[in-house]
Amino acid sequence: MGKFDNKIVLVTGGASGMGKRMTELLVEEGAYVIAADINKELLDVVSQHEMVEGKLLNVMSEDDWKKAVEEIVADHGRIDVLINNAGISSEKHMDDVTIEDWDLMMRINGFGPFAGMKHVLPQMVNQQSGSVVNISSYTAMVGMGANTYTASKGAVRAISRAASTQFGRFGIRVNAVFPGVIKTPMTENLSESSEVLQRLIQATPLQRLGEADDVARSVLFLASDDASYITGAELVIDGGFSAQ
Ligand SMILES: NC(=O)c1ccc[n+]([C@@H]2O[C@H](COP(=O)([O-])OP(=O)(O)OC[C@H]3O[C@@H](n4cnc5c(N)ncnc54)[C@H](O)[C@@H]3O)[C@@H](O)[C@H]2O)c1
Repeated sequence: MGKFDNKIVLVTGGASGMGKRMTELLVEEGAYVIAADINKELLDVVSQHEMVEGKLLNVMSEDDWKKAVEEIVADHGRIDVLINNAGISSEKHMDDVTIEDWDLMMRINGFGPFAGMKHVLPQMVNQQSGSVVNISSYTAMVGMGANTYTASKGAVRAISRAASTQFGRFGIRVNAVFPGVIKTPMTENLSESSEVLQRLIQATPLQRLGEADDVARSVLFLASDDASYITGAELVIDGGFSAQ
């Protein structure tokens, strides 16, 4: 028996990095996964598994969300779990940030998860059950990087908490996770030998960077019935960095 047997799970950014690892683990636990992403090539790879359906969805587009939710409900009748994981990053210094940079970051990393909840939560309310996990970042917890990325992940933190209080009465749980620096395509331009990265590893109590698997397993826990009395929680997955 898998922990996600007969569950319909929607993972945004499900074609790469942490989202891909979540998709793999969810399938191992019996889920039917809709991996939603803008990268068609990568989607074709993950959707080779019979329990994974690749769906082109740009989280910035309200029309895409509407269409995706309608199709999933028409095909499967329900959505048990939503994992808002798609995102982009930027280390651009505050001085160099333009309004266009701000708008794009907030549209993908902020509006994306917001729109996901806006369109999926009504279906979960109909079902009187559901679980949402939003992927924020440790930068929303500690004073790291005064940039658009940090701002967008702060928005994810705030809306997750608020949604948990508003939707609990419908049997819906909303939790957020806060990964530290995790080895994925997003961070691959950071070289392990670089001075900055070495300093970061030395400053991390567990003395290593995170793996996609570290985050995916925590997300699965929060999404699963094992976390049945957990909502509004903020789980930091950063090797202890922010505990200092
Ligand atoms: N890697 C890290 O160190 C780290 C740390 C904290 C938080 N995060 C967050 O974790 C999440 C996953 O990141 P990752 O490291 O696996 O990165 P990744 O780049 O490997 O994966 C991100 C996925 O999101 C997709 N995506 C980007 N824009 C999209 C859009 N508009 N619509 C739909 N899909 C879109 C990409 O195509 C890609 O498949 C992101 O929200 C990221 O901000 C990452």
